[in-house]
Amino acid sequence: MTEAELFLALAKLLLIKSMATNAPSSEHVPSLPEASTESGNKERWLIIDNDAGIDDAAAMVLAGSLAKSYGVVIKALVVSYGNVGQEHVLRNNAKIRQHMGPDGISIPILPGHDKPLVATAGHASFWHGLDGLGDAKGIPQGPFPLPHDGPVEGGSQDMIARVTEIAEEAASKGHELIYCVLGPMTNLASAVRVNPKLKSLIKRLVVMGGCGNARGNDSLTGEFNVLTDPEAASIVFATFDNVEVVSWELTLVHSVPWPIFDKWRSLAPQHPAIDFLDKVLHLAYVERRVVHTDSYKYNGAIICDALAIAYVLEPKLAKKSKSVWVGVELEGTLTRGQTVVDWGTSQQAGKHGDKNCTWVIDIDQTVWEEMFARIGVGESSSSKPSSE
Ligand code: BDR
Ligand code: CA
Repeated sequence: MTEAELFLALAKLLLIKSMATNAPSSEHVPSLPEASTESGNKERWLIIDNDAGIDDAAAMVLAGSLAKSYGVVIKALVVSYGNVGQEHVLRNNAKIRQHMGPDGISIPILPGHDKPLVATAGHASFWHGLDGLGDAKGIPQGPFPLPHDGPVEGGSQDMIARVTEIAEEAASKGHELIYCVLGPMTNLASAVRVNPKLKSLIKRLVVMGGCGNARGNDSLTGEFNVLTDPEAASIVFATFDNVEVVSWELTLVHSVPWPIFDKWRSLAPQHPAIDFLDKVLHLAYVERRVVHTDSYKYNGAIICDALAIAYVLEPKLAKKSKSVWVGVELEGTLTRGQTVVDWGTSQQAGKHGDKNCTWVIDIDQTVWEEMFARIGVGESSSSKPSSE
């Protein structure tokens, strides 16, 4: 890729407003949400469907670090494709879960689809590295225990069966099942087509994806996760009636200011999980920072998937949301993959369908920064990756 192409590619990903630069208090642990284990026997079970991916990695370590504090139990990592091919995503999940807290190593990894339902997959290795983990030097390369030795054929029925099992168990025990998608929505679309009962068994569905103002990152109007498999996204929005969306533009205006990002990175020597992420994020968030700042007034780290997981753990992070109808454009010479939102302002308002989505419009930046600063710190300090 030439320098000019790299700039163009980065332009798709980076557009940011200046953020406050106050360092967070490292003492402050964000308050527990109402649905925590402390408030009753009801647990919150979480499945993370991902295409890791450097920001997926930060998100998953965040989940591992803080889940317990928020009464959340991580039940499975569902593996897709997207930022890089599934073979890499699978290995990356094995590497990342080593850093997802003391119990991370026992979280099941479930390989799902390795390609879109209809579309042809493109990847984003220019940003995530050829291996999807920033081509980081000095991180353990395994061997890690994997559910498969090589590439996994598309449409894993095992994954769907396991997800259904977890969902049924959660329901039978009165727990809340949260499904969070940090990549293309292929696995969920496929699972709910095979097992329509998942629609009612998944109590909360949070997706990082889409853009509500038609300013995309992967095309002029398309956000990467949706555009990678528009048919799957369309099935998800048409099937579920309360998809919670953490959109591309939300993550743009809620970047992590560089001073906070760097203060967090400086803790790498004391925390193996931060050390791992520091290496994984280095290419995109350190080496290329000056390019971002000069070209796009990029004053903080846009870590999309981590913001989505923070919101999963702490729903009160959302200061403002709007209930809307969302559909996905499947045709269009310029707009395929666009998330089309009925904001209630057009003459066609209300004509396309019932509201199916809670669109997060604003989040509490202070709490987000506090949660970010706990990534890799929240875990027990005695937990060390087993293969280091
Ligand atoms: C999304 O695209 C991917 O590259 C990131 O991991 C994130 O999930 C942002 O558009
Ligand atoms: Ca992702």
